[in-house]
Amino acid sequence: MYLGVLPSSPWQHQRIWPASPDFTAHSMDPAFYTDLTRNCDQAGIDFLFLPDKQVANASPPDPAVADSWFDPLTLLAFLAAQTDRIGLVPTLSTTWFEPFPLARQIISLDHLSGGRAGWNAVSSHPGLEDANFAHRPALAPEEMKARHAEAVSLVKALWSSWDSDAATHDAATAQWFRPGSVRPVDHHGEFFDVTGPLTLSRSPQDSPVLFMAGASENFLRTAAKDAGTRRPA
Ligand SMILES: Cc1cc2nc3c(=O)[nH]c(=O)nc-3n(C[C@H](O)[C@H](O)[C@H](O)COP(=O)(O)O)c2cc1C
Repeated sequence: MYLGVLPSSPWQHQRIWPASPDFTAHSMDPAFYTDLTRNCDQAGIDFLFLPDKQVANASPPDPAVADSWFDPLTLLAFLAAQTDRIGLVPTLSTTWFEPFPLARQIISLDHLSGGRAGWNAVSSHPGLEDANFAHRPALAPEEMKARHAEAVSLVKALWSSWDSDAATHDAATAQWFRPGSVRPVDHHGEFFDVTGPLTLSRSPQDSPVLFMAGASENFLRTAAKDAGTRRPA
């Protein structure tokens, strides 16, 4: 069994915050998150899990609503430097983000943290977030799920585009990596056309740990297929 902590987010306190102001008062305080994460680290908690969404809580803004939180990936990169052991799991949506930068960002966090990155891969529900990406054609719910499945599989392929022993840095032969050990992914799918390979070397943990928080049967099927699996080197 693995135990994680999901610090409550300001949006979950949006109207009740005056009754328990401490967390919302510290929602933009790096020292608060450092203490929280170090305490979890020392207590043996396995991972810190940060939820996210791409829209403010009220439009137009409502001064009664608690409404400021960090971008999870940036906060976790900061916390990686403050901790030694705990896993770091940002939520990043395949609806809004592209697989190539997603794959780079998560592997970067993995290298920075010495192999402690995970990814909560979610697809977003149609709704308020659309307004911040209104330049893109809207996706029907089924298309969003298909995009999610394709994005997750493409991110995993990009993670595997470098063999774990690819980088040799051999100045004597002037070979920075072993020939054949870094490969294009040549993905041409319904939603994405990506040649690859990735711009950085293989994850220290081979493949960052995939999380998928979802409820529908379809989503659970994708999660059962893709999450928590490791690819052979
Ligand atoms: C426990 C849990 C946590 C979730 N956290 C987030 C989140 O932080 N951000 C987000 O956009 N979606 C989150 N989701 C929702 C997902 O967007 C969505 O449920 C999932 O991608 C698939 O949708 P479906 O279950 O309707 O198929 C969460 C869902 C669950 C069950």
